[in-house]
Amino acid sequence: MPTDVPKVTLNNGVQMPILGFGVYQIPAEETEKAVTEALAAGYRLLDTAAAYGNEAAVGRAISSSGIPREELFVTTKLWIQDTGEESTKRAFDASLQRLGLDYLDLYLIHQPIGDVYGSWRAMQRLNCDGCVRAIGVSNFYPDRLVDLIEHNEITPAVNQIETHPFFQRTADQELMRQHGVNLESWGPFAEGRNNLFTDPLLTEIGAAHGKSVAQVVLRWLIQRGVVVIPKSVGAERMAENIEVFDFELSGEEMARIATLDTGNSQFFDHRDPAMVSRLSKVRIHE
Ligand SMILES: NC(=O)c1ccc[n+]([C@@H]2O[C@H](COP(=O)([O-])OP(=O)(O)OC[C@H]3O[C@@H](n4cnc5c(N)ncnc54)[C@H](OP(=O)(O)O)[C@@H]3O)[C@@H](O)[C@H]2O)c1
Repeated sequence: MPTDVPKVTLNNGVQMPILGFGVYQIPAEETEKAVTEALAAGYRLLDTAAAYGNEAAVGRAISSSGIPREELFVTTKLWIQDTGEESTKRAFDASLQRLGLDYLDLYLIHQPIGDVYGSWRAMQRLNCDGCVRAIGVSNFYPDRLVDLIEHNEITPAVNQIETHPFFQRTADQELMRQHGVNLESWGPFAEGRNNLFTDPLLTEIGAAHGKSVAQVVLRWLIQRGVVVIPKSVGAERMAENIEVFDFELSGEEMARIATLDTGNSQFFDHRDPAMVSRLSKVRIHE
């Protein structure tokens, strides 16, 4: 029997699995197989994005799985090129069509760049019309997040941000909690950077529980109430990454993992002007 994944309740009452499957950097031609295997392993939350170029493959895997739609939780994201009120509606429809779905569970603004206010107005309407069950953002630092909250009707249900042992985001999480925004981690393993998978402390804690470093990291995030979406193209690792509900980290172990925080990204800073320019030039369609 596949693992029963617990759910978090978002600020609008929608329930979201606390663990799902991310498909960033899985080539489109490999994505259908990967998602099919993830669904067989028990994953029900799928995280893709228009910019990943693999929404159609995710859709094919969903369709051939035979899993009832209401058992799935599907997230995709709006790219910078499509920000703005009118473009967002078009981009949403195009994503939905590629996914072969008639509604989405969660739609995120992928980056805090471009006309995100126009996009948010369109997303609020999509949410009210029942086209998407929850709306949120990604890569928003606290100032951008609070500004969006203060000037709109609907507070984002989720902020998906880089979160892993070397960049723990505890203060950001506390601020989000105060505003009712759930933290979703991207890059829970920091994509293996900084030797995460051989980190001595995480290895030692894993050994004490008969668990891998990957399982310790996911468990640590889940115990913090953070939604996780690890990516793997290996069926064995998919199974490993979902087997995290049969052990618990002690308060002392949680405190020891807290010491690994560097407070810095392992990737790049979304507030870096050069990066804002670079991302703004990334086009995903004509
Ligand atoms: N919103 C954003 O801007 C944003 C940015 C990045 C990512 N994301 C989302 O977050 C998801 C996860 O982040 P990510 O894909 O960047 O990185 P990640 O999940 O931190 O790491 C994935 C890497 O870890 C390896 N891995 C997975 N499970 C493992 C295990 N049990 N043992 C050893 N190695 C393991 C994978 O290799 P194999 O595949 O070879 O197993 C892959 O190289 C993405 O897929 C995407 O959905 C969002």
